[in-house]
Amino acid sequence: MSDTKTFSLDGVAIEFNDGDSIMDAALRAGAYIPHLCHNPEFTPQGSCRVCVVEVNGRQVSACTQPAAAGLEVDNGSDAIVEERRTLLQMLFVDGNHVCPCCEKSGACQLQAVAYYNGMLSPHFTHFFPQRSVDASHPDIAIDFNRCILCELCVRASRDFDHKNVFSLSGRGIDTHLIINSPSGKLGDSTFAATDKAAHVCPVC
Ligand code: FES
Repeated sequence: MSDTKTFSLDGVAIEFNDGDSIMDAALRAGAYIPHLCHNPEFTPQGSCRVCVVEVNGRQVSACTQPAAAGLEVDNGSDAIVEERRTLLQMLFVDGNHVCPCCEKSGACQLQAVAYYNGMLSPHFTHFFPQRSVDASHPDIAIDFNRCILCELCVRASRDFDHKNVFSLSGRGIDTHLIINSPSGKLGDSTFAATDKAAHVCPVC
């Protein structure tokens, strides 16, 4: 008797291994679940919620929800797509995302996921927050207007580069990315263009 374990993703059987999340198993099987803060190389933390799926009638984050035999996972219903679209619209108005004049247009994960989920307008009123650009580093600039607080750079710098260059500070709507350096600027941090953290951002 086979001991293969599966769950159902939009009616398709997905095999999984012990310890897999729904996201892990789906991606391995070639099934796409939209995501922004997930990167298989790092510990998932479920902050963006864009990977929301419905499991047996309950909404969960696919990147943090353990796979289990027999689960019925809804990844593509109108309700789930609408939920994701709303989350994406909130991300767009929370920062300053100027896709039409952004040099990364066409190569931006946030933009791609928004298109994939049929987002055609921000819907909500823009916050137009006042945020800075840190161009103090000779090789890399950070535009805080685009940060979606996914913490991929935080995790990459801490867990892969072992430098801990980035952290989040503040609470709630005041949460923001900070640089761990004497001046708070990237230029006098230990950051390097070759760092893993320089290559994981979903918005630049
Ligand atoms: Fe799962 Fe962000 S990708 S919460």
